[in-house]
Amino acid sequence: MKSFDEVWENIHATQEWGKYPSEQVIRFVARNYYGKERHSIKMLDFGVGGGNHTWYLAREGFDTYGFDGSKSAVEKVKERLKAEELQADVRVRDALELDYQMDFFDCIIDSATIVSNMYGNIVKMYQETYRLLKQGGKLYSITFTTGTTGCGTGIELEKNTFKDITEGSLKGRGTCHFFEKEELNSLLETIGFQKIIIDSLRFTDRENIVEQFLVQAEK
Ligand SMILES: C[S@@+](CC[C@H](N)C(=O)[O-])C[C@H]1O[C@@H](n2cnc3c(N)ncnc32)[C@H](O)[C@@H]1O
Repeated sequence: MKSFDEVWENIHATQEWGKYPSEQVIRFVARNYYGKERHSIKMLDFGVGGGNHTWYLAREGFDTYGFDGSKSAVEKVKERLKAEELQADVRVRDALELDYQMDFFDCIIDSATIVSNMYGNIVKMYQETYRLLKQGGKLYSITFTTGTTGCGTGIELEKNTFKDITEGSLKGRGTCHFFEKEELNSLLETIGFQKIIIDSLRFTDRENIVEQFLVQAEK
């Protein structure tokens, strides 16, 4: 695999991962897609992890797709879907080796997957989301900011990208690029995204700060 870090396979093979969707994703999907013919709306969960958003999207009746580089993660998600008689196309894939058609998806949800990579690959992954979206399709992307506990710890691979983070909620979770708002905005603009909205969400998690950028953008 090109970009996938095997640290994630170890995590998913040995730990339980979140099973329930984030309120922010629910709100975004509800505002934009609940009024539509859901079975004809193609949704991609970009890095399924424990399947929280795949499960939610399938359960809500959308035409749901997802992938993850971790075989264990994908197996668990498939089992959960089967147990609840839900349908989704879930594959083991590297985020830079996707085999969906271009202009295929109405919506792509990236909940902290792209940000778990080196900057050069992050650029390629946002370009890939753009390529895969239909014209007018929407991206929802959750990233971490430089205000998150753990930024500046571990091994600095390049500016604001760290691995083996020693503090906070990202400790033990491989690589993370901590974004600055203007950097993220200009990256998405350069790729061609329009109607870019970047909100911030900051909360305390076990005495650590988690600060995220919540991105909405359109092709
Ligand atoms: C922080 S977890 C988020 C999982 C899920 N989206 C959620 O909201 O809980 C990141 C996920 O992305 C996957 N991932 C990260 N980089 C990847 C890559 N380059 N290719 C494939 N999967 C990747 C990891 O295996 C992991 O399951």
